[in-house]
Amino acid sequence: MINDTILLAQHDGVATITLNRPDKLNALNADLLDALEHTLRHLQADASTHVVVITGSGSKAFAAGADIAQLHAQDAHSGRLFAERGQRVFSLIERFGKPVIAAVNGFALGGGCELAMACHMRFAAESARFGQPEINLGIIPGYGGTQRLPRLVGMAKALELILSGDMITAQEAHRLGLVNRVYPAAELVESTMTFAATLAAKAPLALRACLEATLAAADTSSLEGMHVEASIFGRTCGTVDFTEGTAAFLEKRPAVFTGR
Ligand code: COA
Repeated sequence: MINDTILLAQHDGVATITLNRPDKLNALNADLLDALEHTLRHLQADASTHVVVITGSGSKAFAAGADIAQLHAQDAHSGRLFAERGQRVFSLIERFGKPVIAAVNGFALGGGCELAMACHMRFAAESARFGQPEINLGIIPGYGGTQRLPRLVGMAKALELILSGDMITAQEAHRLGLVNRVYPAAELVESTMTFAATLAAKAPLALRACLEATLAAADTSSLEGMHVEASIFGRTCGTVDFTEGTAAFLEKRPAVFTGR
């Protein structure tokens, strides 16, 4: 690890990244973003990692946003670079090629909510709170929030949240489709890990292909998306895991996937 703002644990194909600045509610400063990017690049290249879970240290916060002390020093030029830095790390998560799940254990505000939205799924503790409070600082969301939130919850609700800066509960976030599942706080980590383990047992190339094809829906027309899907479907039919998966079904035995 390049600094102690990120903790990493690995178990049975699931890597858990913990944002580790609990005294600052895991606010995303430059050191943390550097360590997060470094850790993600390592896990992306690591063949033994099949699924990543991102969570926050302590019981209070997932991440309470970009570090406002560092944000305060920005001007018009550096502010743009500040946003692009965060966007690059979060796009790396979205295009990671392996499922990334946010286990949201508390406040997910500003950049924290944007980090959760860059993940492929969000599981939340009942105590979690979501929001884009940047309006109250005189700025806008800068780590992808204006683009990902409307895609997840629709334009009207996204505008309500971004313009008001209001926080919503985990239950409300679930109702809106921002959150996949809500658990009692004490069960969040174990339930997320159980789900992550089921994904880690799937064929890795098929997981990657599912992500690639489904994420294409956000950026392409339906017609173009169908071409993307057929092409990726064909690619998966050329894998050893496809031959194994279909043979195992026909032979009534569990499949043994090898990621080839
Ligand atoms: N950046 C830097 N520091 C932050 C932070 C952030 N985004 N969010 C919280 N902190 C720090 C606080 O300054 C405080 O530090 P201190 O103990 O050295 O004074 C510590 O974390 C605890 O936060 P505190 O505000 O005392 O906790 P709280 O329970 O009273 O309030 C929040 C919790 C989340 C409501 C409040 O911290 C908050 O509004 N944070 C900012 C959220 C935000 O605007 N995010 C978008 C940033 S672009």
